[in-house]
Amino acid sequence: MERTAVFPGSFDPFTRGHEALVSEALALFDRVVIAIGHNTAKAGLLRVDDRRRLIEAVYAGEPRVAVRTYTGLTGDLARAEGACAIVRGVRNTADFEYERTMEAANRRLFGELTTVVLFTPAEVADIASSTVRELLAFGRAVDEFMPRGIRIENYL
Ligand code: PNS
Repeated sequence: MERTAVFPGSFDPFTRGHEALVSEALALFDRVVIAIGHNTAKAGLLRVDDRRRLIEAVYAGEPRVAVRTYTGLTGDLARAEGACAIVRGVRNTADFEYERTMEAANRRLFGELTTVVLFTPAEVADIASSTVRELLAFGRAVDEFMPRGIRIENYL
């Protein structure tokens, strides 16, 4: 049986940290659906279409990765994709508390889905999309935060 995991997030923008987690998820699952969850009332830095284009560029040669956008519940998207798991990355205790609460809600609502929490590798555990957005606001280069070959300027 093919095992699919959904990796949800805002991905505003997708970073090297996210990329490391997708690599780990690909070792555990047959297929990984990167799911860009967004609030229609709240604009981010990147338009949702550009977030998607950026991620698609990273995984252009990887047929086991698919990219989706959604505005509803992650669990509903996961069900629609036939996923058995929701994958999330944790860098520190602050992340942990948030993940614990989300996992509990998802368990109540979508009992057939397991949340798999992966530790973000130490080399990239300092990377946050919010830091990337802040540096961009100050006109600084962010290449070292982005997946290799990705120039954020092409997506802004
Ligand atoms: O990148 P983020 O901000 O950590 O991503 C958060 C995201 C999109 C995964 C989270 O806000 C989410 O799952 N939103 C959809 C609504 C939902 O399913 N919430 C959890 C159960 S109440």
